[in-house]
Amino acid sequence: MKKFNLAVIPGDGIGPEVVAEGLKVLDRVASKYDLSFDKVHYDLGASHWHATGEVLSDETMAEIAKSDVILLGAVGDPTVPSGVLERGLLLKLRFAFDHYINLRPAKLHKGVISPLATTEPIDFIVIREGTEGPYVGAGGNLASGTEHEIAVEESLNTRRGAERVIRFAFEQASSRPRKKLTLVHKNNVLLFAGGLWTRTFNEVAKEYPEVSTDYLHVDAASMFFVTHPERFDVVVTDNLFGDIVTDIAAAICGGIGLAASGNINPTRLFPSMFEPVHGSAPDIAGKSLADPTATVMSVAMLLAHLGEHEAAADVERAVASDLLTRGNAKRSTTDIGNALAGAI
Ligand code: NAI
Ligand code: MG
Repeated sequence: MKKFNLAVIPGDGIGPEVVAEGLKVLDRVASKYDLSFDKVHYDLGASHWHATGEVLSDETMAEIAKSDVILLGAVGDPTVPSGVLERGLLLKLRFAFDHYINLRPAKLHKGVISPLATTEPIDFIVIREGTEGPYVGAGGNLASGTEHEIAVEESLNTRRGAERVIRFAFEQASSRPRKKLTLVHKNNVLLFAGGLWTRTFNEVAKEYPEVSTDYLHVDAASMFFVTHPERFDVVVTDNLFGDIVTDIAAAICGGIGLAASGNINPTRLFPSMFEPVHGSAPDIAGKSLADPTATVMSVAMLLAHLGEHEAAADVERAVASDLLTRGNAKRSTTDIGNALAGAI
């Protein structure tokens, strides 16, 4: 039996509801493939912040760092000032564990209704840089609240940071049947960061002659996500552009309840973290209305990351067959979780 240490952070709102279903499926698939997950639950998020005034202590970070992998639900709550939990927990984990790959598959499954009228298959992945760009918190305000107020928000880009995510993207593209990689940036206006990304992309491309490459400005890419999504295979882009275009990718593939993601450190020096793309959805929390499918798909990505490809494929099959027959039937969070676990 193979053993793994799993840190579980259910978080706020619908987080605990969807994570419970994700773990149900994980337990089922683990027993089928003779895997054992030693789970430690971390009660972090709004209630922990209200009770203690802290978001994520260094001691807790050090404990989580010892796990093999992390499953996160969602954080964020209307009773906590915006950004406190998102920056203090989510971004803190991403930066401290150097999750420089944010991997977001965009696949339109059979049976799922896309808002697009397309009949072409949609099946691409977006690789978003996770540790640089405008998300590093480099900036500040001067003369706050006056008519002379100044806000500076710097975008940080390093050669090493761009190269490692671009190289990962070429590896992914090289392993897929279509072998196509599109760089998305805005190098006609953002000359400095865009120039660094483009030069690095073109240099790394020479090492992967089997991969065909393409470049799009982010505005054009956003349009093609909607008008011609079939033209994409692997997309690589920076932290901010990736944040925005992946919501478009989620929308065209049936919505945020079906979008999974991985915050990955391929060096494995720190645990990688898997989570649904959606937030804590306070509007539907506690009503068993949340779709746990994105979390279950994140569990599949988690298994693949651990090298358990058969188990991952089994979870993907369970999801695909459920989506095929799902239609518009109204089912509770637990009904969907039970069906997916039952299909393993
Ligand atoms: P959200 O993703 O929580 O909700 C957007 C809309 O989608 C809502 O109408 C919600 O009901 C619906 N929705 C989300 N997940 C769903 C699911 N699994 N099944 C069915 N419907 C679902 O985004 P919103 O409202 O912008 O943010 C709410 C809170 O979550 C905020 O505090 C925000 O900062 C936080 N957030 C946290 C994230 C994370 O932990 N990774 C990511 C995005 C937002
Ligand atoms: Mg986002």
